[in-house]
Amino acid sequence: MIKIAPSILAADFANLERDISRAAAADYLHVDVMDGLFVPNISIGLPVVQSIRAVTRMPLDVHLMIDRPVRYVERFCQAGADIVTVHVEADSEENTRKALALIHGQGKKAGVVLKPKTPASAALPFLDDCQMILVMTVEPGFGGQKFMADMMPKLRLLRQWIDQGNLDCELEVDGGVDPVTCKTVIENGANVLVAGSAVYQAENIPERIRELRG
Ligand code: DX5
Ligand code: ZN
Repeated sequence: MIKIAPSILAADFANLERDISRAAAADYLHVDVMDGLFVPNISIGLPVVQSIRAVTRMPLDVHLMIDRPVRYVERFCQAGADIVTVHVEADSEENTRKALALIHGQGKKAGVVLKPKTPASAALPFLDDCQMILVMTVEPGFGGQKFMADMMPKLRLLRQWIDQGNLDCELEVDGGVDPVTCKTVIENGANVLVAGSAVYQAENIPERIRELRG
């Protein structure tokens, strides 16, 4: 089954509860956390995750675009995240491993994220420890960017490794996913699709979510 994770980065932050409930037909709620250091933008943090947790039962898929995420992963779990993903580029292999262990210690699902220039092989050391691999199909930092079709070989390779290892790991894509590109990522092995603009700019959000399932 294809899962859709609307990104609230494209929601109206002054009406966040309303916009979250508008996306209730989806599977996960994708929360983009940015620190102005790992990416050139600042979005939302712990108090907002905590407030969101109080108004929805949707699983919160928290994408940490922050430097040295090992410092914060436990607090994001305690704030209500169900899945926490960290960028492999944001710290050493040892600390990334530590971050995944801390997330698991909180009883939550953990994953790693790859920026466009990062090869699939960067995920290899963590594959057995991850419930989610996230492949960026835009440079992280902003919504509304153009989908990078040249990420598809990387996606296919990761799908192959997950299937060969019979791993209990989801394969997610993030960036530029719309009713056309959703078909491409599904064909290439993704099973969780993040969509910000495509969901929140739609006339009919439940209908758009259905459409994005391919
Ligand atoms: C980008 C974020 C994405 C973003 C996707 O750094 O990680 O989640 O919200 O937005 P769209 O779907 O508009 O490309
Ligand atoms: Zn994201």
